[in-house]
Amino acid sequence: MKEKIEIVLTDITTLAVDAIVNAANGTLLGGGGVDGAIHRAAGPELVAESSTLGGCETGDAKITKGYRLPARHVIHTVGPVWHGGEKGEPGLLASCYRRSFKVAHENGLKTIAFPAISAGVYGYPMAKACAVAMAEAKAALERFPEIERVLFVAFNAAAKAVYEQAFREVFGEE
Ligand code: AR6
Repeated sequence: MKEKIEIVLTDITTLAVDAIVNAANGTLLGGGGVDGAIHRAAGPELVAESSTLGGCETGDAKITKGYRLPARHVIHTVGPVWHGGEKGEPGLLASCYRRSFKVAHENGLKTIAFPAISAGVYGYPMAKACAVAMAEAKAALERFPEIERVLFVAFNAAAKAVYEQAFREVFGEE
């Protein structure tokens, strides 16, 4: 199962997968960081569709088409803002991954790429965020065997090393 997981150092907007996940905010109308990059690459049709969805709660996920992206769909999820870890942040972040995988499953998608949700502007510590991401990927691959590939996208070399450590902790060394 762990062969289905790949850690890649790239810009998520370049990936030709069934869905890329967007670390959005509750308005779903765009923003900075990976959200801004996805909206710029997808074109104005993306905000046109996402503005019809009525926003998104923290921990939930909603799907749109990918428009001008090489990815066929975008799954928009809203991560928690980090307030020190005692305000339900781990459960909310896990919910982002669970809901994103569920939406992928419901739409028959087999390849999905995630950025480090909440680990930018929202301040979630990268190592803790990657541990949640990896544990939820393992659970989702057990639940949804049709999923073929899960890509974790690191935006710099340091982030890639953190993902690799989380992978070893969840799946073992060999
Ligand atoms: N490809 C892959 N990863 C990226 C890219 C990219 N093109 N750009 C940034 N990252 P952030 P958040 C990484 O801040 O913390 C927005 O304004 C980045 O290095 O994008 O969930 C939304 O509208 C970091 O590791 O998302 C919300 O208001 C990770 O993506 C708010 O920011 C997430 O960083 C969401 O904050």
